[in-house]
Amino acid sequence: MDSINLKDSAFLRACRCEPVEWTPVWFMRQAGRSLPEYRALRKEGSILDAIKKPDVSTEITLQPIRRYGVDAAILFSDIVVPVHAVGCGVEIEPGIGPVAADPFRSSDDLKRLRSLNPEVDTPYVLETIKGCIQELQVPLIGFAGAPWTVATYMVAGRGTTDQAPAHSLKNENPELFDNLINLLVEGTIEYLSHQINAGAEVIKIFDSWAGSLKGNDFDKYALEPCKKIISALKSKYPQTPIIAFPRQAGDRYIDFAKQTGADCLALDDSVSADWIAQNVQADGCVQGNLASSHMVSGGKELIKETKKIVKALSNGPHIFNLGHGITPVSYTHLRAHETREDRGVRGGGG
Ligand code: CP3
Repeated sequence: MDSINLKDSAFLRACRCEPVEWTPVWFMRQAGRSLPEYRALRKEGSILDAIKKPDVSTEITLQPIRRYGVDAAILFSDIVVPVHAVGCGVEIEPGIGPVAADPFRSSDDLKRLRSLNPEVDTPYVLETIKGCIQELQVPLIGFAGAPWTVATYMVAGRGTTDQAPAHSLKNENPELFDNLINLLVEGTIEYLSHQINAGAEVIKIFDSWAGSLKGNDFDKYALEPCKKIISALKSKYPQTPIIAFPRQAGDRYIDFAKQTGADCLALDDSVSADWIAQNVQADGCVQGNLASSHMVSGGKELIKETKKIVKALSNGPHIFNLGHGITPVSYTHLRAHETREDRGVRGGGG
């Protein structure tokens, strides 16, 4: 809706490190299986089919806004959508995640990765963004997976706990791996530029597996690619805030905040809010970092932890969020808890 000036929204003000009237809040994976209305709409088909239907994706993006009144919406899509779209064969299997029938292993595989042209390859993503911003009265976050995280799925063929196949390829054939990362950097710049042109007000880069990179590898495969993407986007869209999420980066969160040019750093719950306030917040806005498990257990602990985080980060720019995504069961558990409370059964606050 054009009448609303989103530039003054709490969310965008926080991203710009300006004073806010309240701590803006949204939840990673706020659109998804934790919502009954999502499950009813999605039913059994593949998530990629839903993503390819702009009317369905728009509705799913809006569902958590209606239900929770959060301060930002996140585009309903997935980090593997662009590589799926350029024909590298990555699908998403229910309960498993990204799966590649023909994983990326050799220089021949580079040839089947054509350059991404978002208008031709992912028009449905751009249409969803346009549909969402017609309806939304809060900013829309567009996103992409960071090159390293997307590469881990392409190389492994399916989710692993330690990303070992991607680590092996980068160690055994660094030239090939660097070419893959560079291609992903270029594709991501193109993809995110089109998302901004379509109307996304904020961009988030998910490097969910950054924490598995150590020492120089972290610089080379997490920090540098994100820095390149951010600097290319900033040169074209200096006003669009960028949130970076190098999950489980530990001490290296500090370098990410200082060196990548991100406006906001999202942090997981392996670091404490006090540590964030001391080490990262001086370099820009921070986002996080309630453990998702609290959304499942609920009760007094959930309230206590939430207040602790908000207080610890109250002296600087902060966007409240989880350390990682809402789990598929969270909502069901919270409702069950509320129902017990409604009946006067003591269940630990809420
Ligand atoms: O609300 C939101 O956050 C927006 C939607 C969103 C999805 N995926 C939808 C989705 C976002 C931002 C993502 C990003 C994503 N996808 C990441 C980065 C964030 C993170 O969680 O670390 C990663 C690593 C992926 C890859 C991926 N896609 C995984 C590991 C899975 C889970 C597999 C499973 O079934 O448990 C997916 C599937 C997926 N993406 C679902 C959703 C809602 C669930 C499947 C479904 O609904 O059919």
